[in-house]
Amino acid sequence: MLFPDYRPRRLRQNEAFRRMVRETVLTANDLILPLFAIGGKEIKNSIPSMPGHYQLSIDNLIKTAKRAYEAGIPGVILFGIPDKKDPLATRAHAPDGIVQKATSALKKNIPGLAVITDVCLCQYTDHGHCGLVTDHGTIDNDSSLDILARVALSHAKAGADMVAPSDMMDGRVTEIRNILDENDFSHVPIMSYAAKYCSAYYGPFRDAADSSPKFGDRRTYQMDPGNALEAIREVTMDIEEGADIIMVKPALAYLDIICRIRGEIDLPLAAYSVSGEYSMIKAAEKMGWIDGKKVMMETLTAIKRAGADMILTYFALEAAEELRAAK
Ligand code: PBG
Ligand code: ZN
Repeated sequence: MLFPDYRPRRLRQNEAFRRMVRETVLTANDLILPLFAIGGKEIKNSIPSMPGHYQLSIDNLIKTAKRAYEAGIPGVILFGIPDKKDPLATRAHAPDGIVQKATSALKKNIPGLAVITDVCLCQYTDHGHCGLVTDHGTIDNDSSLDILARVALSHAKAGADMVAPSDMMDGRVTEIRNILDENDFSHVPIMSYAAKYCSAYYGPFRDAADSSPKFGDRRTYQMDPGNALEAIREVTMDIEEGADIIMVKPALAYLDIICRIRGEIDLPLAAYSVSGEYSMIKAAEKMGWIDGKKVMMETLTAIKRAGADMILTYFALEAAEELRAAK
C-alpha cells in the first residue's frame, strides 16, 4: 500500500512538520482536577503520598479552583472528608455536609467552573466500604442504592453540575437518574465510574480521603483486573440505566480497556488517572530518576491517544499551567 521508498522520517525532521501530522494533542479542556474538601478555615493539610495535593478547607479550595479555572480547566471533581462517620453514611447526604457546602461555595464564587461530585459512601461509613454492610459483614447492594440516590440528590440541590457515582453497586445509575428526574434535576448528567477495577493504585487516595476499608477489601464490588469483556458489560449496563459519560479507572494500566470501549461504544469516555499513577511519577521525579514533567505529558497524551475524551488527573493543574506556558 505504501510507496516502496516511503521514509516516515521525512515528516519528523522539523517541529513544523511534527506539529502538522501530530494526531493527539492534549489541551486543558481535556482535564478534570480532583479536590479534597474538609471542614474548618485556612486548612491546608498536606498529603504525604500525593505531593502538591492537600485536604483544603472551603476558603483554600476556592483559591485552588480559581487557579484551575484560570488555567483553562473546565471542571473539578470533589471528594469530602466528613466531620463524622457512622454505619449508614449519614453525613454523605446531609444538606450541611462538606461536599454540599463546598459545592455551593464553588458555584457562587466560580460559576463557570463545572463542579462534579463523587457519589460514594466510603469516606462516610465507619467501616470504610462503598456500600452498607449487613450483619454478616457482606455488602448490602440493594439497601445501599437508596442512600446513594439521596447523596446524589443532596449534591444536585447544593448546585452540583454533574454527579459521579464511584461505588460500583449494581443498579445505582437507575436509582440516581430516577431521583434526579423526580426532583426537577433532569438536566444534571451522570458520569458513571462504569469500569472501576479493584486496584492497588488507589492507595494514596485512601490516605488523602481517609477511606480505607476497616475489614476485607473491595473485591466483591470492584472489577477483577483480569477482565476486559466484563468492562464492556458494565459500561453497557450503565448506559442502559442512563449514564451520560462512562469512565474507566485506573487509566494507565487499563489503556487497552479505554481503547476497546472507545472502539465499541459511542458515548463520551472519561479515564481516571488515579492517585498511585500520580504518586509513582512524583516519587521517581524526586529521586532524580525521570523528568517528571515530560513523563506527565507523555502519560496524559497516552491516555488521550488510547481514546479518553477527558482525563481526571491530579496533574490537571500542573499540566494545564505547563500547556499555557508552552504557548
Ligand atoms: C471511592 C473512590 C476511590 C477513588 C475515587 N473514588 C477509591 C476507592 O475505590 O477505594 C480512587 C481515586 C484515586 O486513587 O485517585 N469510591
Ligand atoms: Zn467508595
